[in-house]
Amino acid sequence: MTDASTGPVTPATAPSASGVLLVLAHPALERSRANRALAKAAKGVSGVTFKDLYETYPDFVIDIEAEQAALVSHEVVALQFPLFWYSTPALVKEWLDLVWLHGFAYGEGGEALKGKRLFVACTTGGSAKAYHMQGYNRFTMDEFLRPLEQTAHLCGMDWETPFVVHGASVKDDAALKAEAERYAARVASLLPARTEA
Ligand SMILES: Cc1cc2nc3c(=O)[nH]c(=O)nc-3n(C[C@H](O)[C@H](O)[C@H](O)COP(=O)(O)O)c2cc1C
Repeated sequence: MTDASTGPVTPATAPSASGVLLVLAHPALERSRANRALAKAAKGVSGVTFKDLYETYPDFVIDIEAEQAALVSHEVVALQFPLFWYSTPALVKEWLDLVWLHGFAYGEGGEALKGKRLFVACTTGGSAKAYHMQGYNRFTMDEFLRPLEQTAHLCGMDWETPFVVHGASVKDDAALKAEAERYAARVASLLPARTEA
């Protein structure tokens, strides 16, 4: 049951929530090199549920209940995107605005995300050197990602150290392959170790 002004009736945080919900947001994946390589590698990690946000909602009409159910049933929420104007692509903002509602994600009765973890993976055109107080972009990536970090905090989620690939547009195939392997290992490390039978 959803009320546009106050949000849905909150489902209790599912004790059985497990795995990583990997939400990819790239508006032109067919032209992507970096995010495509990263997503391909992470998709193969056992325990990962993959969602391509722009493919699912090309018209920006988001199925709020389905998105909330996906969030509730996973332990880790991973958000992967190319940095656009020092922020997320627009559909991530729309998804947050419409899905992470008062009464669901935060506020009175809004405990559906409490205890989960938020992990951000981001590619940038700018070099690592540019993301520095004395660099071209004047601020660090941690600073540009603060709104997401605070979103996690507001929702009672733990903030994982972000995975950032700088200079993504100028990396050759071998370098991107290495980043993709590093990314898949990081995503796998977010999952609890399985005890052998
Ligand atoms: C609309 C737009 C805005 C962008 N803004 C930034 C930015 O603020 N900082 C930056 O370092 N790169 C910026 N870029 C470059 C992208 O982040 C870069 O092309 C992307 O991370 C490469 O990944 P891909 O191969 O998956 O597309 C921007 C690109 C576009 C198209």
